[in-house]
Amino acid sequence: MNVYDAQRMTDTLAREGYVETDTPDDADLVILNTCHIREKAAEKVYSELGRLRKSQEEAGRKSMVAVTGCVAQAEGAEIIKRAKVVDLVIGPQSYHKLPELIASAEARRGLRDHGVVDTEFPVEDKFDFLAPPTRAAIAKRGPTAFVTVQEGCDKFCTFCVVPYTRGAEVSRPLAKIIDEVARLADGGVREVTLIGQNVNAYHGLDRTGRPVSLPGLIRAVAEVPGIARVRYTTSHPRDMDDELIAAHRDMPALMPYLHLPVQSGSNRLLALMNRKHDRELYFEIVERVRAARPDIAFSSDFIVGFPGETDEDFTETMDLVERVGFAGAFSFKYSPRPGTPAAGMDDQVPEAVKSERLTALQALLDAQKTAFDRACLAKSFEILIEKAGRYPGQLIGRTNYLQSVVVNGPREAIGTLANVVVNEVGTRNMTGDILDGEFFRDGAYSAGEAALSFQTGGFIGQSEKVEA
Ligand code: 5AD
Ligand code: SF4
Repeated sequence: MNVYDAQRMTDTLAREGYVETDTPDDADLVILNTCHIREKAAEKVYSELGRLRKSQEEAGRKSMVAVTGCVAQAEGAEIIKRAKVVDLVIGPQSYHKLPELIASAEARRGLRDHGVVDTEFPVEDKFDFLAPPTRAAIAKRGPTAFVTVQEGCDKFCTFCVVPYTRGAEVSRPLAKIIDEVARLADGGVREVTLIGQNVNAYHGLDRTGRPVSLPGLIRAVAEVPGIARVRYTTSHPRDMDDELIAAHRDMPALMPYLHLPVQSGSNRLLALMNRKHDRELYFEIVERVRAARPDIAFSSDFIVGFPGETDEDFTETMDLVERVGFAGAFSFKYSPRPGTPAAGMDDQVPEAVKSERLTALQALLDAQKTAFDRACLAKSFEILIEKAGRYPGQLIGRTNYLQSVVVNGPREAIGTLANVVVNEVGTRNMTGDILDGEFFRDGAYSAGEAALSFQTGGFIGQSEKVEA
C-alpha cells in the first residue's frame, strides 16, 4: 500500500510542478514514506533521517523533508523533536493536503518551532482530492498496478498496529475504483492488484447505492477493456466467504495465487492473537479454495515468537506449513508494538529463541517454494511481460504465481501476454522460451501502443532476515 500511496503523492505533486529525481541530494523535497508494522521498519526511518541530515549539511543545502505513512501517524510531533531535519509529518489519511502542508511548512522554515504536523483522520475522502496519474506516469510504472480499494482494519489482532495507524475499515465506492482502473488500462496496464489491509472484507457501494463485496468488484474490474489479470491482497481467513471462493472457480482473470495470512498454526496462539479463527478453519478454507480452483497456490504470513509461544506451539506452526504446502511466504519475528495488547503480555520470547524458530520456519518455507518452482520445469505458463531484462533482447514476465521468467523477445512485447515453456529454474527466476502470445501470434501487436519503456518491478514484500 505504501508503494501505491507514494505513487499517488507523486501524481499529486506532479500537478504542482514537481518531478521525480533519482537521488535525494538533488531534491527540493524529500518524502520518507514509512512503515510502522515492526520496530525494525520504524527505526529505519531515523537512520535514514540521520543520513539525510548529514548529506544536507555536507552539501550546505537544506531541502524540505517530509515523513509520511504510519510512523508519521504513530509518532506525530515526536519525529520533529527527535530529528530536526524534518519539516513535515503527515499521516496516511492526509496525503491529499500535501501541497498546502508544504506551503505552511515553507512559511515556518527557520523558525525555532519549525515544522507542521497533520495526523488527522479527516471526514473528506482523500482519494477525491489526490491527482490521477498522467498517461506517461502510468506507462513508466509498467503493465501491473496496485489500486487501493479498502483501507484500515477492524480486526484488532493483538500484535498489530494497523487498526491504530490506518484507522477503521473504509471501502472505496465501486465506480471510483472502476474509473481508476479504466484510466490505468488506457495507459497500458494489464494486471491490477486490488489492495487493502483486509481486502476481502471489502464492502463498497455501487452507483445505485447497493452494497458490493469483493467478488462483485473483481468481476467489474475484470470487465474493464484491456485488463487481463486481477489479484487481491491481503485477505483474512474469516472473510473468505462462499461467494469469494466461487469467484476463484468462475473468473479466469482472477489469478490462482492467494495470499492468505495465518500467522500461527497453534490454536492457543491464534486465540491469544485474536485472529478469530482456528487452524481447522484455515485447513477447511484451503481445501475449499483448492476444490474450486485446483491449480491454486497459497502464500501466507507467519509470526514466530509471539508472547507465550512454546516449542509445542511452534511445532504446530511447522505442522500447518507441512500440511498446507506454500508456494511463497513472508515470515517475521514478533515485534512488540507500542499501544498493542500483545506488547504488554507476559512471557515475551527471548530474541535467540525467535531467531532459532525463524530460521527453522524459513528453511521449511524455502524448501516448499523451491519444490513448487522446480515442479514448473518443462511446463508451459502464460506470462505477462512486464519489463526489459538485464541484457539486451531479454524480457521479464510473471506467471500466474508471480514467478519471474526471463525470455528473449523485443521490447515492443512488454505489456502483452505470452505462453512460455520453462526450461530452467533458478533461485531468483526462471528462464523460458516463448511459444506464442498476443504480440507473437502473427506479428500483430493487439494491445495498442501503450507498451513504452516500462521500468518498475513488482516488489511486493520481504521476509525478515535472521541476523547472525
Ligand atoms: N510483529 C511481527 N510481525 C508483524 N506483522 C504484523 N504485526 C507484526 C508484529 N507486531 C506481520 C503479520 C502481518 C504482516 C503484514 O506483518 O504477519 O500479516
Ligand atoms: Fe493487522 Fe491484518 Fe490483523 Fe488487521 S487483520 S489487525 S491488518 S494483522
